[in-house]
Amino acid sequence: MKTVTITGISGTLGKALGKEYLRKGWHVIGVSRRDDVEGKGESYSELHVSDQESVEDAKQLLDLNSDLLILNAGQIETEIGEKGLPLTEMVESMNRVNYTWPAVVATEAGNRTWKNSLEIIAIGSIADGAPSPFGPVYHAGKIAIHYFWLGVGPIIYYATEGKVKMRLYRPGAIKGPLAWAPINRLNEKGYKIRKKRVDGAPEADRVARDIIKWIERGKGWVGTWDEPISFKIFKYLHALFPNLSYKVQMLGWRKGSKWG
Ligand SMILES: NC(=O)c1ccc[n+]([C@@H]2O[C@H](COP(=O)([O-])OP(=O)(O)OC[C@H]3O[C@@H](n4cnc5c(N)ncnc54)[C@H](OP(=O)(O)O)[C@@H]3O)[C@@H](O)[C@H]2O)c1
Repeated sequence: MKTVTITGISGTLGKALGKEYLRKGWHVIGVSRRDDVEGKGESYSELHVSDQESVEDAKQLLDLNSDLLILNAGQIETEIGEKGLPLTEMVESMNRVNYTWPAVVATEAGNRTWKNSLEIIAIGSIADGAPSPFGPVYHAGKIAIHYFWLGVGPIIYYATEGKVKMRLYRPGAIKGPLAWAPINRLNEKGYKIRKKRVDGAPEADRVARDIIKWIERGKGWVGTWDEPISFKIFKYLHALFPNLSYKVQMLGWRKGSKWG
């Protein structure tokens, strides 16, 4: 029986991924910071409790020896400070779960000798194309994980003789609480735009099935769920004209935020 380990098993996408893998007959190790996650037998077979903070936590995760590891846990700014300022503790915790800890896990995997193969899928986001003052810490973490995966992935792949494969999946909005968080900085006009996006977003079950199909096809290194044209425009603008991109973010804050 194959084993998949999924971090963030208590969340919207984690639960859906776990459910689908169980249906396919896999052994699912769900990872959470809590030891009381509901859904044993429904979305996971066994629970691995981990703070997902330290090198030791990363080693313990890899000691589970699964065939597939999905680093899905992620955090968005659910709380903000006055005038929309990011909160220091949230910046620290988000950067850790969205970027630095997954990077430590991958590095540790690359430094081990593997008998069997291990595929590590990082769940990124289409938010990684460009910075945004409406989800600045989230976008930065997702950009960072994207850069790390594509920069370090080839080194780890060849250093482990193809045993450790790092791939990245970038979902768009999924129906659920995380997709709603960017509204906490938006004014009424911006809120309406976001609402339209979240209302039209797919359910997690559908996204999970698509991710699993992409994993199983085994072809691409980076998978993307329907990146809207607006995100692509910001991405190209940022890549080609970084100074202009900053000016556009300034204007966006002035026009679209509660404080502009
Ligand atoms: N939902 C979307 O619209 C969307 C769009 C693009 C990408 N994504 C990405 O998809 C992944 C899953 O999103 P989701 O919608 O399922 O989010 P979610 O419902 O908020 O679940 C995320 C899970 O991650 C864990 N987590 C949160 N903060 C953590 C921290 N600081 N340290 C360790 N674990 C932490 C939590 O599990 P415990 O509390 O049990 O530890 C939580 O249940 C994330 O990486 C997200 O960025 C989501």
